Amino acid sequence: MTTTENLTTEQVRERVAEQLRRSRARSTALTDAVDEDDLVRQHSRLMSPLVWDLAHIGNQEELWLVRDVGGRDPVRSDIDELYDAFQHARADRPALPLLKPREARTYVREVREKVFDVLERTPLQGRRLVQDGFAFGMIVQHEQQHDETMLATHQLRTGAPVLHAEDPPRAAEPLPAREVLVPGGEFTMGTSTEPWALDNERPAHAAHVDAFFIDTVPVSNGEYLAFIDAGGYDDPRWWSEVGWAHRQKANLVAPRFWERGPAGWHRTRFGVVEQVPFDEPVVHVCFHEAQAYANWAGKRLPTEVEWEKAARFDPATGRSRRYPWGDEDPGPEHANLGQRHLRPAPVGSYPAGASALGVRQLMGDVWEWCDSDLRPYPGFAAFPYREYSEVFFGGDYKMLRGGSFGTDASAVRGTFRNWDHPIRRQIFAGFRLARDARPDEVR
Ligand SMILES: [Fe+2]
Repeated sequence: MTTTENLTTEQVRERVAEQLRRSRARSTALTDAVDEDDLVRQHSRLMSPLVWDLAHIGNQEELWLVRDVGGRDPVRSDIDELYDAFQHARADRPALPLLKPREARTYVREVREKVFDVLERTPLQGRRLVQDGFAFGMIVQHEQQHDETMLATHQLRTGAPVLHAEDPPRAAEPLPAREVLVPGGEFTMGTSTEPWALDNERPAHAAHVDAFFIDTVPVSNGEYLAFIDAGGYDDPRWWSEVGWAHRQKANLVAPRFWERGPAGWHRTRFGVVEQVPFDEPVVHVCFHEAQAYANWAGKRLPTEVEWEKAARFDPATGRSRRYPWGDEDPGPEHANLGQRHLRPAPVGSYPAGASALGVRQLMGDVWEWCDSDLRPYPGFAAFPYREYSEVFFGGDYKMLRGGSFGTDASAVRGTFRNWDHPIRRQIFAGFRLARDARPDEVR
């Protein structure tokens, strides 16, 4: 959401209402697309049944907006435990006495009606939780995050295709350069002013990087195929020790959803079997695969600090932008976000979304693995609850930045931080490469 500095309370309310309606339209589309059996079935042990996600969205909304912000009586006090993500692992959720699809739909509708009433009557100032509509923004982002999770469940689902979307526009112009130099020195990382930024993105602080080069675009399927053809999956030299052990154990031979046929590589994308398009960013690779590719290519993954500097730093002003292209909210010309298209756009697309330094497709298309662990920024304070970020610090997570075609614009920013286990492949993640700058290359 745009920085709310100049918005009246009424304008903030209107924006909240619009975002709530948008996220609900998406949740509805994702759950109405399949029949009742499909909604309650577990399509993968990595995922919840879709009907769990739906009622969980409503339950979080009830806990924060109806009960806490609104001070109202519970809509349903008997189901909190079922929909507490920390109580039950995803694999165990199908066995729970979950709300039936019809009950879940009724529940989320009842909660939403109360929330609109709470929104109307709550002064959006005073208490930090409601300042600039923060709690509402948190719930909008939560629903959109689950909508991306549900999209990943759709990708794991077998059966006839049920989701359809137009293909993204093709790149309009050739790339000016393969890689760009990011100057060394300090820049401002994170934010203290973005009203709906979450605790782990805060506070703004000075971060240093040495000069480095970053690729203009993410690694493509065609490039990744060269790694496969060169025997990259069979050569432990390119893999970290833990990465190689995982490659052996999980028998990785190609990105997830790829299959080698007599006429080359195919992939399954939301139920459609198609030839692997060489010019799209590679997606559905884990951190270990990304790292092995980078080693084979003689480069490396960027760190999270490097990624954010490449995305936000404007050398002309010395300040950090909200998004690569500037401070305006994402529009369809900037990035492939919001499930408008159900695939990444070809590498080099979205020239209007390039960063000040000329790096493209940092937002949208594919989440980008960074070679960094999840750590708090200096001055981090958990808000509004420890379970949002703090309990994950110190795990084996690797950072993911920039969002994918499945991520909504309200749920990603230049400062937004995502993380996952380094073995995860069902998420819409790819990567781009970086390398150190040699002294003679630094101007
Ligand atoms: Fe959740």
